[in-house]
Amino acid sequence: MSAPVVVRVEQPGDVPHIRDIVAHAFGQRAEADLVDRLRADGDALVSLVAVAEGGELVGQILFSRLPIAGSMGRVTEAAALAPLAVRPERQGMGIGTALAKAGIKACTARGLAAIIVVGDPKFYQRFGFSAAVARGLRSPYPGNAFMALELKPGALRAKGTVCYPAAFGAVPVEEHP
Ligand SMILES: CC(C)(COP(=O)(O)OP(=O)(O)OC[C@H]1O[C@@H](n2cnc3c(N)ncnc32)[C@H](O)[C@@H]1OP(=O)(O)O)[C@@H](O)C(=O)NCCC(=O)NCCS
Repeated sequence: MSAPVVVRVEQPGDVPHIRDIVAHAFGQRAEADLVDRLRADGDALVSLVAVAEGGELVGQILFSRLPIAGSMGRVTEAAALAPLAVRPERQGMGIGTALAKAGIKACTARGLAAIIVVGDPKFYQRFGFSAAVARGLRSPYPGNAFMALELKPGALRAKGTVCYPAAFGAVPVEEHP
């Protein structure tokens, strides 16, 4: 089913609604706190919301600054995708997919080289995220859930270390097989 929503950039009045969506989607406050802290720290790059008919906010996706430090002082400008959240009663209707596709487009338009995500491979592979592409990166989140999408072909060919904003330190990471 296609998403019956409009995706647009976050506006200041959206902040409490985003908190509510993210906390309900994850069933805890840690990810909602992460969104607030990334925004407050100036690390948020792209925040999009999904608006249903009638104006209700039903989903959000956030991309934050994620430099990848390579050899010889080389830095690749990437983004971390986290979190992606859809109101529980609206899940399974294509809204997460619409947010992910719009977010990838927005990051590409900003000239970012890559997007990194830690999540369920079954969900993120459909957008082109790959654990194999991320394998050359040193990260605090190793394993198959650690995936990358190159927006500039070959951007992640060289090895590097992903430098997560401090806010991520407070978030427990879910295990994926
Ligand atoms: C994950 C989430 C954002 C997906 O949003 P959504 O609007 O429900 O997703 P869509 O309707 O676009 O689903 C697209 C597909 O992904 C699948 N899918 C949804 N959630 C999934 C999950 N957690 N793991 C694997 N697949 C998932 C759906 O079954 C659907 O598959 P299909 O196209 O083969 O039918 C949403 O379920 C959510 O907010 N979950 C709680 C928070 C969370 O886990 N966020 C992701 C962190 S990595």
